[in-house]
Amino acid sequence: MRILVTGGAGFIGSAYVRLVLDERPEDEIVVLDKLTYAGRRENLDEVADRIDFLEGAIEDRDAVRGAMAGCQAVVNFAAESHVDRSIADADAFARTHLIGTSVLLEAAREHRVSRYLQVSTDEVYGSIASGSFIEESPLNPSSPYSATKAAGDLLASAHFHTYGTQALICRGSNNYGPRQYPEKLIPLCVLNALAGDPLPVYGDGRQVRNWLYVEDFARAIDLVLREGVAGEVYNVGGPDEEENLTVIRRILELTGRDESLIEHVPDRLGHDRRYSLSSGKVRALGWEPLTHFAEGLERTVSWYRDNEPWWEPIRSGEYRAYYERQYGRALAS
Ligand code: NAD
Ligand code: DAU
Repeated sequence: MRILVTGGAGFIGSAYVRLVLDERPEDEIVVLDKLTYAGRRENLDEVADRIDFLEGAIEDRDAVRGAMAGCQAVVNFAAESHVDRSIADADAFARTHLIGTSVLLEAAREHRVSRYLQVSTDEVYGSIASGSFIEESPLNPSSPYSATKAAGDLLASAHFHTYGTQALICRGSNNYGPRQYPEKLIPLCVLNALAGDPLPVYGDGRQVRNWLYVEDFARAIDLVLREGVAGEVYNVGGPDEEENLTVIRRILELTGRDESLIEHVPDRLGHDRRYSLSSGKVRALGWEPLTHFAEGLERTVSWYRDNEPWWEPIRSGEYRAYYERQYGRALAS
């Protein structure tokens, strides 16, 4: 199978590309990636000579048509992925998630691709106080990030119903692991702890996330692409739910720092309190998460400790300005 992987230079997309090339060496991969601040060619270094890499945006019709030619499948990871950035400025989120997804789906129709998988998120369901969301739970997104992701899901479903496009949707919970851009909670706190900088906790820090190791999500996506029923949604939740403060305390232990680094800062606007997914459908296809949070977090901390050449250029580039805007005043006061 020749697979177009959009957003393949990002955190999860690059893990997916490595997984497919490891487990299915007969498959061919084309990556289309705009290389935003979060997209990094280095993430694909190990497999650079085994893929076709194209720099381009999913909202660019010509780039998409060219990239999709000869492909039987599309997996759409391309996204603006950070909730805080969507709260500050939502335009790029609307462009990529609405227009980009629409352009991809139109091209998938023209090219009659056999499978189209839309990578989505548990955030489309909003927050849940107790219990877990199932695939039929109503969509109730809270942020511009999750609202535009929900719109992408609805477009994929509409193409299935209207044109018979063989579209599937995978909604994952919070991923973590190597190569995650350090704007997200875990890599941000790991790098700050290693540097002896404060760890910013939004509000009371008692929010709960359902942590999923990135390789487990990549395996679920590949299984759904090949074995899932077209037109269906598959939730992919991690094995463990943790409060943010518990995660942060564990990072402090693993980096040999003490709790004096914890700093409470003003809460995120519209902050969802808890996410939790029921993953019965994908488990029925034969998937289960292999990595528990304690083990995955240890591996993640070791990876960042051992891979300074990966993160050092980030910490001294665009990220510095972002960090200042997002945390400067709160951490100074
Ligand atoms: P990321 O920010 O690390 O990577 C996104 C990639 O998409 C980057 O390589 C970027 O350059 C590329 N990209 C952005 N806009 C593009 C555009 N218009 N055209 C082409 N490429 C573009 O994100 P991630 O964490 O790897 O997330 C990947 C997907 O998984 C996203 O769709 C996200 O919504 C979804 N998801 C993420 C998580 C998570 O916890 N990170 C959980 C569930 C679902
Ligand atoms: O649930 C899936 C989603 O998980 C994905 O769809 C998103 O792409 C991904 O970014 C992630 O969203 P979150 O908003 O849950 O992740 P983030 O790492 O930004 O935050 C995790 C929790 O930690 C959340 O409750 C906010 C909190 N937080 C985050 C940061 C960056 C802090 O307390 N301090 C921080 O500095």
